[in-house]
Amino acid sequence: MVLYFSATGNTRFLASELAKKLGDECVDLLGRVKKNDLSEIRSDRPFIICTPVYVCEMPRFLSKYLRNVKLTGSRKVYFIADSAGYGGITGYLAKKLFRRKKMEFMGYSEVVMPRNYFISHYPPQSESEIKERLVSACRQLDDIAQTIQKGGKLKARYVFMFEKLITIPFNPVWSKYKMSAKEFFADSKCISCGRCEKVCPLNNISIRDKKPVWGSSCTHCMACIGNCPTGAIEYGTVTREKGKYNFMNYKHLISDNSADTAKRRKNG
Ligand SMILES: Cc1cc2nc3c(=O)[nH]c(=O)nc-3n(C[C@H](O)[C@H](O)[C@H](O)COP(=O)(O)O)c2cc1C
Repeated sequence: MVLYFSATGNTRFLASELAKKLGDECVDLLGRVKKNDLSEIRSDRPFIICTPVYVCEMPRFLSKYLRNVKLTGSRKVYFIADSAGYGGITGYLAKKLFRRKKMEFMGYSEVVMPRNYFISHYPPQSESEIKERLVSACRQLDDIAQTIQKGGKLKARYVFMFEKLITIPFNPVWSKYKMSAKEFFADSKCISCGRCEKVCPLNNISIRDKKPVWGSSCTHCMACIGNCPTGAIEYGTVTREKGKYNFMNYKHLISDNSADTAKRRKNG
């Protein structure tokens, strides 16, 4: 069973493609995380956890959820994290987490996907760069699926001691001081549909006087900005300058690619 969290669609795509390739079930954890529903999840096939990387590790609300939820049936767990290029100590921490749950850690893979964190200091990505990342992720997904199908272990890259020494104390400080929701706002395009409220994993958004209002617990996941159907949500002036990300706006780049591949195969 593939379990995933995704704020802006990258991880959802990887998880659902993987489930399709393996003929396995795919479960979005968002609803469970929002309700802190820790009731049993049972799978007779190995668990496959897919998550984005937030500040060099998996989102903290997700690790808290996974630590506490009851996973029954198979004791094997695969772990896949997608990032914009640096997965940090995500796999190392996941291995520790699942070992504590007395599960057999079947390895970890890092998949590079387009960056959804537009409010960081990084420049926006070009469409060709996004396409390159998506195409290469699809290839990597084939290898991952094959390994899982054969019951093999995924190979993680080596995590150096200095990465742990930097990330472990740095992350809470960064989250506390840099991940404020103060600069989020909805402009006049807002239609009060409540989508932002629904997609926020931390229940940090409520609709008041027909407009979203952000509370104090924000993880900057970009779900509100990335999923607003009218593009009404902004973060200060940054998102107006750099744009916003949702996988669905770029999905055609790989559909075109698979159509090309299919055509090439047909033509020999
Ligand atoms: C708050 C936040 C922190 C992030 N931190 C990292 C990071 O440390 N390294 C990295 O390579 N990408 C980082 N990213 C990029 C995401 O991991 C990446 O774009 C991911 O594919 C998004 O997945 P999603 O669309 O399923 O939400 C971060 C994104 C967010 C929103």
